Amino acid sequence: MQSLLSYYTNNHFNPVPIDIDDRTNWTNHFAKRQNLYEHHLRIPFGLLEGRDAIEFGCNSGENALVLAAAGMNLTLVEPNAQSIPRLKSLFETFGLGDRITALHNLSVNDFKSDQSYDLVIAEGFLNTLPNRDAMLSKLSALARPGGIISLSFDDRYGGLIEQVKRFVQWRACGLLGIDDIFSAASKDICKKLYLEDFQTLNASRPFHAWWMDQIVNPFALDLWTYDEILSALEAAGCRLYGTSPVWANCDRYTWYKDVPEDMSWQGRFRPAWCTQLPFILTGKPVEDTGGTTLVAMAGILQGLDELLAGIANYSRNFPTEKPLPVLPNTLLDYLAAQSDTEVQSLGNNLKRVFDPNFSGDGADFVALYKSQGALRNLWGSAYHYLSCIKIG
Ligand SMILES: C[S@@+](CC[C@H](N)C(=O)[O-])C[C@H]1O[C@@H](n2cnc3c(N)ncnc32)[C@H](O)[C@@H]1O
Repeated sequence: MQSLLSYYTNNHFNPVPIDIDDRTNWTNHFAKRQNLYEHHLRIPFGLLEGRDAIEFGCNSGENALVLAAAGMNLTLVEPNAQSIPRLKSLFETFGLGDRITALHNLSVNDFKSDQSYDLVIAEGFLNTLPNRDAMLSKLSALARPGGIISLSFDDRYGGLIEQVKRFVQWRACGLLGIDDIFSAASKDICKKLYLEDFQTLNASRPFHAWWMDQIVNPFALDLWTYDEILSALEAAGCRLYGTSPVWANCDRYTWYKDVPEDMSWQGRFRPAWCTQLPFILTGKPVEDTGGTTLVAMAGILQGLDELLAGIANYSRNFPTEKPLPVLPNTLLDYLAAQSDTEVQSLGNNLKRVFDPNFSGDGADFVALYKSQGALRNLWGSAYHYLSCIKIG
């Protein structure tokens, strides 16, 4: 499997099937995107009319259609030819075809232009590209001074719990002697493990798309961090503007006249990110009240990096021959020190599913997972959006 794109095209798989074919669905979809842009990424829809946007990886155009309805002129770039017919027919049905300035069946790598745009969008694929830093510079070069870049990514630390769910699926299938991780038998195990809990989420996509895109997709292992993204974007002349989920609380209780001297990611947002790590990891709105020092934080993040690398190794090829990932004590101590009892229990739940001495069979392992309440209930904050301003 060469790339995320070939994974989608070879499997004839639409990773984000968004149904906007009736009025209610369209209204709901529009409301979600408006909420994301206006309240999380701080991009007011009322200022978009007549402005130019370019969207990479627009799939069949459901999100672009919202911007067209807000009056933007769109350049759309999508390498998957299978998505284009639905895209064209959607814009035609909505009477918004004339808002498309250009439509290119290309990857971001191959796109070339000397034009610039008010809004540059790349949502849902950048973290899987081997040259992702270079692509961030490319996005920045396409933005006008004062323009905005919006992107989304699978966050390494927010993805912990989803990666653990991936690991549990792979371990269960191994113990059950299933010979193919993409098989119907494997999907049945995934349903046994997760369907009931998945149905309680306000998820936009169906269970099948989640299973294909997160639990068995080899490219779901290509995770990214704010540290890595924002260092690259700042080097390319951009500054962080908004995030979704909204975790940054650094403006709370401050007076606007107290302009921070250091507006960089490291100076302004990173300390807030550290206090929000329990939320990032678990998706639960709790802050780190333990006063974790920077040295301790570095140890926790290093332990997490090693654990996630271990899960990636374990769940790259099936049947897996790699050793079980090892849970770092720094993470267990950190979870145990949190005030929230469910977050404390998460550490114990993790010990059970990573236990190297587990001696039951596959059915026992599925039952073991089902009895871990915190791990079942928590999903982390795996998927993040951010907006950046191009400084000029
Ligand atoms: C997970 S989907 C996200 C679709 C949409 N942007 C969204 O957020 O709902 C990823 C999209 O990125 C596209 N894609 C994959 N590799 C790409 C690349 N190198 N350049 C541009 N788009 C790419 C895929 O074809 C697919 O349409």
